[in-house]
Amino acid sequence: MLTQSLEPVFSPDDLIPPPINNNGLTGRDIISVSQFDRDKLSYIFGRAREMRDMVNCIGGAGLLKGRVLTCLFYEPSTRTSSSFIAAMERLGGSVIPITQGVQFSSISKGETLADTVRTLEQYSDVIVLRHPEEGAAQTAADYAAIPVINAGDGPGEHPTQALLDLFTIREELGRVDSLKVAMVGDLRYGRTVHSLTRLLLQYDVSLRFVSPEILRLPLTIMNQVIDAGLNVRETHDVADVIENADVLYVTRVQKERFNDLAQYEEVRDQYEITPDLMARAKAKMIVMHPLPRVGEIHYAVDQDPRAAYFRQVRNGMYIRMALLAAVLGRA
Ligand code: NCD
Repeated sequence: MLTQSLEPVFSPDDLIPPPINNNGLTGRDIISVSQFDRDKLSYIFGRAREMRDMVNCIGGAGLLKGRVLTCLFYEPSTRTSSSFIAAMERLGGSVIPITQGVQFSSISKGETLADTVRTLEQYSDVIVLRHPEEGAAQTAADYAAIPVINAGDGPGEHPTQALLDLFTIREELGRVDSLKVAMVGDLRYGRTVHSLTRLLLQYDVSLRFVSPEILRLPLTIMNQVIDAGLNVRETHDVADVIENADVLYVTRVQKERFNDLAQYEEVRDQYEITPDLMARAKAKMIVMHPLPRVGEIHYAVDQDPRAAYFRQVRNGMYIRMALLAAVLGRA
């Protein structure tokens, strides 16, 4: 017979408070930047600044205690996966990391994306998904009852990267309107370029697109730029844009998207941002890159205060902290 009363398994202090939804993002999937109007952007940026101050003062908080994130990555990643993991852990939550190659999961046995997400949602409160097929994040979201965040769907979109890119521009240069933004490299397959361009349509910016002929921005996105009435020009040469650019957004040629590797070899080394080139740029401008770089920016440029790409990386953690808190109803 039981003589001692058992401790309750939780105290009222442990209960997860009811969600607050003052941002329109609670419980929602994050699939595309088209979900973000300027109100939502300024909301997320405000929360991200608070997260930055909090991390710099005390390192972390317990806002997402008891919550679990699944990081499901079918493509390689360093920054996106680890910044989501850091964001969740700094807010007191925890992570199921399926980021080390899906060969160790049942995906290698032929499990469908639908069954994988319907399984993982039994254990977790939010899924972050990276997948090689355009549209995969939407497919996963159609099956999962919990929020799905798109961390890159093939050459489609990479909305959380675009949010951190826009936040970086705003924090570094103090504004977005009236800036001249030049995007350089693989504009055809670069999903970060696709998402950032779409976000910038909401601002009064001038856009310059610099790429080899075969890597020009897809026509559907170019048409959206034209419909938005923005000042836009395309060129093959960085020298045409370097003097006037406020933001030089450099990208890697996306080798993994090429069917014909000989074509990749033709364009892979087309651009390199060097100190000589930087000598012609404005004193107050920034160089950005979603990373990884594979030769597009010379290492000597890293010493230049205008090189913002590692500050950009850090902003990714604050933006993802803000997004996770919003989606999970805690901001
Ligand atoms: C980018 C990506 O995966 O689309 N990386 C990232 O998330 N920071 C860019 C790239 O791989 O070139």
